[in-house]
Amino acid sequence: RKEYQRPQPLKGKKVLITAGPTREQIDPVRYFTNPSTGKMGYALAKKAKQLGAEVTLISGQVALGPPAGVHVIQITSAQEMYDEVLKAYPDQDLVIKSAAVADYRPKITYDQKMKKKPGDYVVEMERTKDILMELGDRKEHQYLIGFAAETTDVEKYGRQKMDKKNLDAIVINNVSEEGSGFGTDTNASLFITKRGEEMTYPLMSKEELAENILMVASGEMESETL
Ligand code: CTP
Ligand code: CA
Repeated sequence: RKEYQRPQPLKGKKVLITAGPTREQIDPVRYFTNPSTGKMGYALAKKAKQLGAEVTLISGQVALGPPAGVHVIQITSAQEMYDEVLKAYPDQDLVIKSAAVADYRPKITYDQKMKKKPGDYVVEMERTKDILMELGDRKEHQYLIGFAAETTDVEKYGRQKMDKKNLDAIVINNVSEEGSGFGTDTNASLFITKRGEEMTYPLMSKEELAENILMVASGEMESETL
């Protein structure tokens, strides 16, 4: 009896996914972060593995277990994510940056816990590196997908990010829409590719969305190597 074999359009492909939030430490007991739970990135990693890829998942601190058969690298800060992603990048065929990377970090991280004092406290922040922008600059053969979290002029800002960061495609989420964005099990999104594919995905599970994104990307990757 023949077992049913899932189609494996990503067989032989190396796929790198980033997921979750970054943490930017102020002192040993305090940090800045964001509400990302990592669900979208973990769903992408699981699906990419099921579609036959060799998957590396570079993940911030989340409460999710590692997807079966996926190589997971844990990081904490934006700088650590930058280091790991750039190290892995040259080998990859497909890179999807679903992590919610902090744009700013405290200028100084204290080794000792700060004691509270009367009055206000001001934290000076500095910019982190834009990892995705760097990947776009260094792109060779890789198919590069970014995410955009927007609340207004969603399509316009999303397209601008795709162009500016030299991406092959972008998943644009309106994070002010109910059921979409940080922490939810579902997402409604617009997925556009540089080659002109344009898909409006209604509210669906992050796993379904992951499969849709990966199928479009693998199709475009395939036709590029023909
Ligand atoms: N990103 C990144 N490194 C950063 C900031 C963002 O790699 N330091 C990536 C995210 O993983 C995402 C994409 O860039 O794939 C877009 O993130 P988003 O926060 O929507 O856009 P930004 O470029 O940071 O612009 P802004 O937050 O000002 O809208
Ligand atoms: Ca940002």
